[in-house]
Amino acid sequence: MKEEITMGDLEEEIVNEPPASIGRRGFLIRLNRVLGFLLAAPLIYPIVRYLTHGGYPGFDNAWISLGQVDQFKEYDKPELIKFVRVKEDAYTIQQLPKSHWVVRFSKERLTEIYKNGAVEFRDDKGKVFWKNSPDVDLVVFSGKCTHLGCSYRWKEGKGLFFCPCHLGIYKITGEVVDGPPPRRLDQLPVRIKDGRLEVVDAEYKAGKKVQVRLV
Ligand code: FES
Repeated sequence: MKEEITMGDLEEEIVNEPPASIGRRGFLIRLNRVLGFLLAAPLIYPIVRYLTHGGYPGFDNAWISLGQVDQFKEYDKPELIKFVRVKEDAYTIQQLPKSHWVVRFSKERLTEIYKNGAVEFRDDKGKVFWKNSPDVDLVVFSGKCTHLGCSYRWKEGKGLFFCPCHLGIYKITGEVVDGPPPRRLDQLPVRIKDGRLEVVDAEYKAGKKVQVRLV
Protein backbone atom coordinates (compact mmCIF):
# COMPACT_ATOMS: atom_id res chain seq x y z
CA MET A 1 0.00 0.00 0.00
CA LYS A 2 1.30 3.37 -0.99
CA GLU A 3 2.39 5.51 1.95
CA GLU A 4 1.23 9.05 1.81
CA ILE A 5 3.76 11.72 2.64
CA THR A 6 2.47 15.04 3.73
CA MET A 7 4.26 18.40 3.90
CA GLY A 8 4.12 18.07 7.66
CA ASP A 9 6.16 14.81 7.49
CA LEU A 10 8.74 16.40 5.23
CA GLU A 11 9.10 19.43 7.46
CA GLU A 12 9.49 17.13 10.44
CA GLU A 13 12.20 15.17 8.60
CA ILE A 14 14.01 18.33 7.68
CA VAL A 15 13.68 19.76 11.17
CA ASN A 16 14.67 16.44 12.73
CA GLU A 17 17.81 16.06 10.58
CA PRO A 18 20.51 16.32 13.26
CA PRO A 19 22.76 19.23 12.23
CA ALA A 20 25.50 17.78 14.34
CA SER A 21 25.89 14.78 12.01
CA ILE A 22 26.47 17.09 8.96
CA GLY A 23 28.98 19.07 11.01
CA ARG A 24 30.87 15.93 11.91
CA ARG A 25 30.96 14.76 8.29
CA GLY A 26 32.17 18.15 7.13
CA PHE A 27 34.75 18.23 9.87
CA LEU A 28 36.06 14.78 8.93
CA ILE A 29 36.25 15.73 5.23
CA ARG A 30 38.21 18.87 6.08
CA LEU A 31 40.47 17.00 8.48
CA ASN A 32 41.12 14.47 5.75
CA ARG A 33 42.11 17.24 3.34
CA VAL A 34 44.40 18.91 5.86
CA LEU A 35 46.11 15.61 6.69
CA GLY A 36 46.48 14.87 2.98
CA PHE A 37 48.06 18.29 2.43
CA LEU A 38 50.44 17.85 5.37
CA LEU A 39 51.54 14.46 4.05
CA ALA A 40 52.01 15.78 0.51
CA ALA A 41 53.74 19.07 1.46
CA PRO A 42 57.29 17.64 1.81
CA LEU A 43 56.96 16.15 -1.67
CA ILE A 44 55.37 19.20 -3.27
CA TYR A 45 57.69 21.83 -1.72
CA PRO A 46 60.89 20.93 -3.66
CA ILE A 47 58.94 20.86 -6.92
CA VAL A 48 57.35 24.27 -6.27
CA ARG A 49 60.69 25.68 -5.17
CA TYR A 50 62.39 24.32 -8.28
CA LEU A 51 59.71 25.84 -10.52
CA THR A 52 59.75 29.24 -8.78
CA HIS A 53 63.54 29.49 -8.24
CA GLY A 54 64.69 27.57 -11.31
CA GLY A 55 66.59 25.09 -9.12
CA TYR A 56 69.04 27.85 -8.06
CA PRO A 57 69.17 28.46 -4.31
CA GLY A 58 70.90 31.90 -4.58
CA PHE A 59 73.93 33.06 -2.58
CA ASP A 60 74.12 32.22 1.07
CA ASN A 61 74.94 35.51 2.81
CA ALA A 62 74.57 34.18 6.37
CA TRP A 63 77.19 35.47 8.83
CA ILE A 64 79.35 32.78 10.44
CA SER A 65 81.49 33.26 13.52
CA LEU A 66 85.20 32.45 13.22
CA GLY A 67 85.86 33.08 16.92
CA GLN A 68 86.56 35.87 19.40
CA VAL A 69 88.27 38.93 17.93
CA ASP A 70 90.76 38.89 20.86
CA GLN A 71 92.22 35.59 19.74
CA PHE A 72 93.78 37.28 16.69
CA LYS A 73 96.33 39.29 18.63
CA GLU A 74 99.44 39.37 16.47
CA TYR A 75 99.75 41.74 13.56
CA ASP A 76 100.63 40.48 10.06
CA LYS A 77 100.62 36.86 11.19
CA PRO A 78 98.06 34.76 9.26
CA GLU A 79 96.05 32.19 11.20
CA LEU A 80 94.24 29.28 9.60
CA ILE A 81 90.73 28.81 11.00
CA LYS A 82 89.05 25.48 10.32
CA PHE A 83 85.35 24.86 10.81
CA VAL A 84 82.54 22.65 9.59
CA ARG A 85 79.78 24.19 7.53
CA VAL A 86 76.42 22.43 7.79
CA LYS A 87 74.36 22.71 4.61
CA GLU A 88 70.77 21.55 4.43
CA ASP A 89 68.58 21.15 1.39
CA ALA A 90 65.21 19.46 0.93
CA TYR A 91 66.61 15.94 1.30
CA THR A 92 70.14 16.02 2.70
CA ILE A 93 72.28 17.50 5.45
CA GLN A 94 75.94 17.92 4.45
CA GLN A 95 78.88 18.62 6.74
CA LEU A 96 81.53 20.46 4.75
CA PRO A 97 85.01 20.96 6.23
CA LYS A 98 86.15 24.54 5.49
CA SER A 99 89.13 26.72 6.27
CA HIS A 100 89.95 30.41 5.85
CA TRP A 101 92.98 32.55 6.65
CA VAL A 102 92.51 35.41 9.13
CA VAL A 103 95.08 38.21 9.29
CA ARG A 104 95.12 41.18 11.68
CA PHE A 105 96.91 43.75 9.55
CA SER A 106 99.19 46.53 10.65
CA LYS A 107 98.14 50.03 9.55
CA GLU A 108 100.69 50.12 6.74
CA ARG A 109 99.49 46.86 5.18
CA LEU A 110 95.84 47.72 5.73
CA THR A 111 96.40 50.88 3.69
CA GLU A 112 97.91 48.74 0.94
CA ILE A 113 94.91 46.37 0.94
CA TYR A 114 92.38 49.20 0.75
CA LYS A 115 94.38 51.43 -1.61
CA ASN A 116 91.42 51.34 -4.07
CA GLY A 117 88.82 52.03 -1.37
CA ALA A 118 86.31 49.74 0.31
CA VAL A 119 85.87 46.23 -1.07
CA GLU A 120 82.26 45.64 -2.17
CA PHE A 121 80.32 42.40 -2.08
CA ARG A 122 77.18 41.80 -4.12
CA ASP A 123 74.20 39.51 -3.73
CA ASP A 124 72.81 37.29 -6.52
CA LYS A 125 70.90 40.26 -7.93
CA GLY A 126 74.06 42.31 -8.28
CA LYS A 127 73.17 44.60 -5.36
CA VAL A 128 75.94 45.57 -2.93
CA PHE A 129 75.06 43.98 0.43
CA TRP A 130 78.34 44.62 2.26
CA LYS A 131 81.56 46.64 2.12
CA ASN A 132 84.82 45.78 3.84
CA SER A 133 86.72 48.85 4.92
CA PRO A 134 89.91 49.61 6.89
CA ASP A 135 87.73 50.33 9.95
CA VAL A 136 88.16 46.62 10.65
CA ASP A 137 91.82 45.61 10.71
CA LEU A 138 91.00 41.90 10.37
CA VAL A 139 90.93 40.50 6.84
CA VAL A 140 89.75 37.00 5.91
CA PHE A 141 90.99 35.27 2.77
CA SER A 142 89.15 32.25 1.39
CA GLY A 143 91.25 29.14 2.08
CA LYS A 144 91.13 28.12 -1.59
CA CYS A 145 93.82 29.01 -4.10
CA THR A 146 92.35 31.02 -6.99
CA HIS A 147 94.07 28.80 -9.56
CA LEU A 148 92.31 25.45 -9.09
CA GLY A 149 91.04 25.66 -5.53
CA CYS A 150 93.79 23.82 -3.61
CA SER A 151 94.46 24.65 0.04
CA TYR A 152 97.50 26.91 0.37
CA ARG A 153 99.88 27.42 3.30
CA TRP A 154 101.64 30.24 5.10
CA LYS A 155 105.44 30.13 4.92
CA GLU A 156 106.49 31.95 8.04
CA GLY A 157 110.20 32.18 7.09
CA LYS A 158 109.43 33.72 3.69
CA GLY A 159 106.41 35.79 4.74
CA LEU A 160 104.41 34.46 1.77
CA PHE A 161 101.44 32.21 1.08
CA PHE A 162 102.45 29.14 -0.93
CA CYS A 163 100.20 26.74 -2.87
CA PRO A 164 101.85 23.32 -3.28
CA CYS A 165 99.60 22.14 -6.15
CA HIS A 166 101.21 24.22 -8.93
CA LEU A 167 103.59 26.41 -6.95
CA GLY A 168 101.41 29.49 -6.72
CA ILE A 169 102.81 32.22 -4.45
CA TYR A 170 100.92 35.15 -2.90
CA LYS A 171 101.95 38.12 -0.78
CA ILE A 172 100.49 38.37 2.72
CA THR A 173 98.12 41.00 1.33
CA GLY A 174 96.80 38.50 -1.23
CA GLU A 175 98.50 39.70 -4.46
CA VAL A 176 100.00 37.06 -6.75
CA VAL A 177 103.81 36.98 -6.67
CA ASP A 178 104.42 33.99 -8.91
CA GLY A 179 102.86 30.89 -10.47
CA PRO A 180 99.58 30.25 -12.28
CA PRO A 181 96.94 31.87 -9.98
CA PRO A 182 94.94 34.21 -12.26
CA ARG A 183 93.88 36.66 -9.52
CA ARG A 184 94.67 37.71 -5.98
CA LEU A 185 93.32 35.74 -3.00
CA ASP A 186 89.58 36.09 -2.50
CA GLN A 187 88.72 38.38 0.37
CA LEU A 188 85.50 37.53 2.25
CA PRO A 189 82.97 39.94 3.81
CA VAL A 190 83.90 40.51 7.47
CA ARG A 191 82.29 42.23 10.43
CA ILE A 192 82.76 42.33 14.17
CA LYS A 193 79.67 41.59 16.21
CA ASP A 194 79.47 41.15 20.00
CA GLY A 195 83.24 40.71 20.16
CA ARG A 196 83.27 37.97 17.54
CA LEU A 197 84.72 37.94 14.04
CA GLU A 198 82.06 36.99 11.51
CA VAL A 199 82.33 36.23 7.79
CA VAL A 200 80.09 35.40 4.88
CA ASP A 201 81.39 32.08 3.62
CA ALA A 202 81.30 33.03 -0.08
CA GLU A 203 82.91 30.83 -2.73
CA TYR A 204 84.30 31.97 -6.07
CA LYS A 205 85.07 30.14 -9.28
CA ALA A 206 88.68 29.04 -9.57
CA GLY A 207 90.79 29.73 -12.66
CA LYS A 208 89.14 33.06 -13.60
CA LYS A 209 90.85 36.45 -13.79
CA VAL A 210 87.71 38.13 -12.49
CA GLN A 211 85.83 36.92 -9.42
CA VAL A 212 82.69 34.91 -10.25
CA ARG A 213 80.73 34.05 -7.14
CA LEU A 214 79.33 30.51 -6.92
CA VAL A 215 77.83 30.25 -3.42
S1 FES B 1 95.79 25.23 -7.29
FE1 FES B 1 97.14 26.60 -6.37
S2 FES B 1 98.64 26.95 -7.84
FE2 FES B 1 97.27 25.54 -8.78
